Amino acid sequence: MPNPPQNLTVATTGASGSLFLKHFLLAVDSDKRIHAVNFIASDSALRVMAEELALRGRNNLVSQILGKSSRKIQLQSNADIGANIASGSYPVDAMVVIPCSVGTLARIATGDASHLIERAADVTLKEKRPLVLCVRETPLNKIHIRNMYRAADAGATVFPLIPTFYNRPGSLDVMAREFAFRVLAHLGLPQPDAYRWKG
Ligand SMILES: Cc1cc2nc3c(=O)[nH]c(=O)nc-3n(C[C@H](O)[C@H](O)[C@H](O)COP(=O)(O)O)c2cc1C
Repeated sequence: MPNPPQNLTVATTGASGSLFLKHFLLAVDSDKRIHAVNFIASDSALRVMAEELALRGRNNLVSQILGKSSRKIQLQSNADIGANIASGSYPVDAMVVIPCSVGTLARIATGDASHLIERAADVTLKEKRPLVLCVRETPLNKIHIRNMYRAADAGATVFPLIPTFYNRPGSLDVMAREFAFRVLAHLGLPQPDAYRWKG
């Protein structure tokens, strides 16, 4: 696997926190170290993004989220289990699910690979590549906690959608952007504008 990663899969699901996805995609779009991004959105993600980002439908989804077009980010259909990222032979370096619903978490943790998001996550784990799950739910029941344990035990990083406050973010955008930077740093893609605690 190239270090830093060059080819990412980004999936988004029906948990709250679409703004975090937006800032993650903006950051990967502008990071020249990343050459290719395959992007998948579940149907429920579209419902939540309609609420939280005032998006309308699937048409030009990436442009709607970013507020501009992207040549790097390719939208894949969640129904297309024949897409490139459904196979371990396609050279993905890492996958991020942001936000990750507890429903998607459950399907990944139990190997239910019936849609592209879960299949791509399953492939990421079997190929021993980094899989980051930005799980968002509160409060957590024992099923959620067990599934987080199962996913972590299989090699995933459970990276809950919990922002930092010690950087005193002045807006929701700053808060979401900083979280995106933390996920990218975790994958070996530190961002020059990230906040650094100096003690
Ligand atoms: C506005 C809205 C907010 C939601 N927030 C969450 C959430 O924070 N976490 C979660 O796990 N599910 C949340 N849900 C429920 C999921 O969307 C639902 O369980 C869905 O079936 C998940 O499907 P998916 O995993 O295929 O995306 C929310 C639904 C809506 C409409």
